[in-house]
Amino acid sequence: MAGWPAPPSSAPVLSDVDDPLAGHPRYEKIRWANPDKPNVQVALDRVASRNVAVKFIERGAKVTKHVKREILHHHSLVHRNVVRFYDAFLTPTYLVIVQELGEMNLWQHVCNRGGRLAEEEARGFFRQMIEGLEYCHSMGVANRDIKLENSILKTQYAGGVSTPVLKLCDFGYAKGDSDSNAISLVGTSSYVAPEVVDPSKRDPNPNAGQRIYNAKMADIWSAGVALYVMIEGRFPCGTEKSNGCMEALLKRIAAMKLDPPRLMSPGAVELVMGIFKASAERDTIAKIKERAWFKDGMGSAPASEPELPAEEGVPSVAELEAVIKKAEIAELGTNLSIDELMDSVEME
Ligand SMILES: Nc1ncnc2c1ncn2[C@@H]1O[C@H](COP(=O)(O)OP(=O)(O)OP(=O)(O)O)[C@@H](O)[C@H]1O
Ligand SMILES: [Mg+2]
Repeated sequence: MAGWPAPPSSAPVLSDVDDPLAGHPRYEKIRWANPDKPNVQVALDRVASRNVAVKFIERGAKVTKHVKREILHHHSLVHRNVVRFYDAFLTPTYLVIVQELGEMNLWQHVCNRGGRLAEEEARGFFRQMIEGLEYCHSMGVANRDIKLENSILKTQYAGGVSTPVLKLCDFGYAKGDSDSNAISLVGTSSYVAPEVVDPSKRDPNPNAGQRIYNAKMADIWSAGVALYVMIEGRFPCGTEKSNGCMEALLKRIAAMKLDPPRLMSPGAVELVMGIFKASAERDTIAKIKERAWFKDGMGSAPASEPELPAEEGVPSVAELEAVIKKAEIAELGTNLSIDELMDSVEME
């Protein structure tokens, strides 16, 4: 069985004293977004007068095709349940991705609630996760790392009522319809689908010469794991630790040996068990949305969302490609100021 790969956009380890934005004309560090993941900061965007999330990716060898995909796929997605992509720019050391800021990730929220959520609250988040996923898939993008930590919560205030809105983030493993076939073991161990772990679970594809998996169906499995964790407060196949080692966990996922749910209502059990099946039999998003438990309390149809306004100043694909190309070069001469560096990017 294959080992577990390092994340494609390997996070730089930045200490509290490091400030890659120091002296930047537009963005100013406020704090780390998540103390456990010191590669995303909350920063002030002086031009747009708002706080944003900025993600740092070290320039040079770490700017791989995965980083290019992360940026270009994320840039193509505009939906209420996907973190908005705003900008990408260079500092002498980092490629920096600027995004809409949320308050915390869903894992942190679940932890704050003592390790699990009431079913009603979990259902609200799951619905939004499915809406975001359905949109990404309709745009030809599979995320391949759906999990609570990659689901950002942002409070929306309207008419005196505050509602937490779930937004998918982190397209670091994303696979587009026009990218190469999905064959790699990527994602987060406790969330990955059996066919991702075990190629013998994939349909043979005579044209590809390799056994490929359907990355969109694999996303649906991971969303099922997220729902299970929210309600049950544990993973359906456990974790690396509870299984003793990574290989044991992956073997268990491949064999689909799940711990039966104990706390879910029958309707929620029916829904997750429709997801925890081999890829070819797994519920599609359309089927999930037809399940009684999913629809319960929503009236006859979910309210349609108003279209999101166009975001000003978001770079074009060509501009982003130019930034990524420059980011592949480790460090430019330190005699260039950030302004000069940015000007030189804009000229190309
Ligand atoms: N837009 C955002 N708003 C608020 N917090 C965010 C945002 N984006 C990321 N974060 C925080 O930073 C964490 C890491 O972000 P992200 O998943 O993009 O980085 P990563 O290095 O690719 O992570 P990993 O490889 O572990 O999945 C998230 O789990 C979240 O806590
Ligand atoms: Mg992540």
